[in-house]
Amino acid sequence: MRTQVAIVGAGPAGLLLSHLLHRQGIDSVVVERRSREYVEQRVRAGVLEQSTVDLLREIGLADRLDREGLPHHGIALLFDGVSHRIPMSDLTGGRAITVYGQQHVVRDLTEARLAGGGQVYFEADDVTVLDVTSATPRVRFTVGGRSTELECDVVAGCDGFHGVTRGLLPASARILEREYPFGWLGVLAAASPVDDELIYAYHKRGFALASLRSPTISRLYLQVDPTEDLAEWPDQRIWDELGTRIGQDGRTVNEGPILEKSIVPMRSFVCEPMRHGRLFLAGDAAHIVPPTGAKGLNLAVHDVHVLSAALSHWYATGSETGLDEYSTTCLNRVWRVQHFSWWMTSMLHRFPQHDAFEQQLQRAQLEYVVSSPAAATSLAENYVGLPWS
Ligand code: APR
Ligand code: PHB
Repeated sequence: MRTQVAIVGAGPAGLLLSHLLHRQGIDSVVVERRSREYVEQRVRAGVLEQSTVDLLREIGLADRLDREGLPHHGIALLFDGVSHRIPMSDLTGGRAITVYGQQHVVRDLTEARLAGGGQVYFEADDVTVLDVTSATPRVRFTVGGRSTELECDVVAGCDGFHGVTRGLLPASARILEREYPFGWLGVLAAASPVDDELIYAYHKRGFALASLRSPTISRLYLQVDPTEDLAEWPDQRIWDELGTRIGQDGRTVNEGPILEKSIVPMRSFVCEPMRHGRLFLAGDAAHIVPPTGAKGLNLAVHDVHVLSAALSHWYATGSETGLDEYSTTCLNRVWRVQHFSWWMTSMLHRFPQHDAFEQQLQRAQLEYVVSSPAAATSLAENYVGLPWS
């Protein structure tokens, strides 16, 4: 088999890249380790920045998003029993975020790509990428017991944090990372949301977040120890803890059947550079942000937007300028977003090693953000997403 761009991974990064390339007349094949059902049901965050929504609209992939997505113009910060609204759209000239589950984005992208004749191989075993420093890299994989070799011009490593492509970077590549001393226990529940806007709660028992997916589905998170065993968290314990941390200032956490629950560790991670020869990493394969700023999907979208433009320029003109700048262009935004996600995380969580001094600094920071329009604007413009350059 031969294609122009072999894409490893059918998450948001890989699928969207395949769409963007197709629109520019560039052929691609997507190779995914998991089944289609698995990928479409994997519950993850669900906040789309303004630029992400704009891009999906521009390429005609926002029909369902426009019908079912929930535009949000503000968020609340809750601390010391009082909630404070940050009017994001007022502070950013009308920009907003849209709440829409990542698995819905993946479902929409998969459906449209397959309907458009795209080649996506699910349940591919033993995916092996070869010769990325040559002009003809190859991707070997096995589907349904048959092994295939895909020859290509370029490999896009969109295989997430646990993928194989990052391992092909030379020893000179740098990994920069931070582990946080906590994780998030997330639940999806058939219960009406606490509010129609997101609530980020700073509480002495730990951070909590009330989000939603629809008027009848809540998405809720609790800061927990990263080694916590989910078995120690029966549903009622989760509801009680959410009630304690979020049920303040006249708010009620509505209980209902829990549809899904999981614990994710929190880390910041960046791989530099994001390129080796004809291999280009995009999305979680190259960087992870803690979910406090809800930026993971949006960074992946930015990466593939930059990569598709660089590849299209290369195929059209033979010039490698865009490809050469890919890593630097993406990493500039990655580090802005890393800083924002780290800052939100540091301001809102209880750190086991913090004493009263550090807790008062957190409180002072929260007070400043909710009382100074300048500080609130800084949060808001990062939260809705700084415009793409
Ligand atoms: N071969 C083929 N596919 C693989 C392999 C492999 N060896 N390893 C992993 N994959 C697949 C995974 O099964 C997954 O479907 O690559 C895909 C990567 O998708 P994501 O993890 O969703 O990463 P990405 O597309 O970069 O999207 C970033 O994902 O982690 C979230 O919150 C994060 O929203 C962000 C988004
Ligand atoms: C979510 O709705 O899943 C969500 C919202 C905001 C975050 C993280 C996750 O910061």
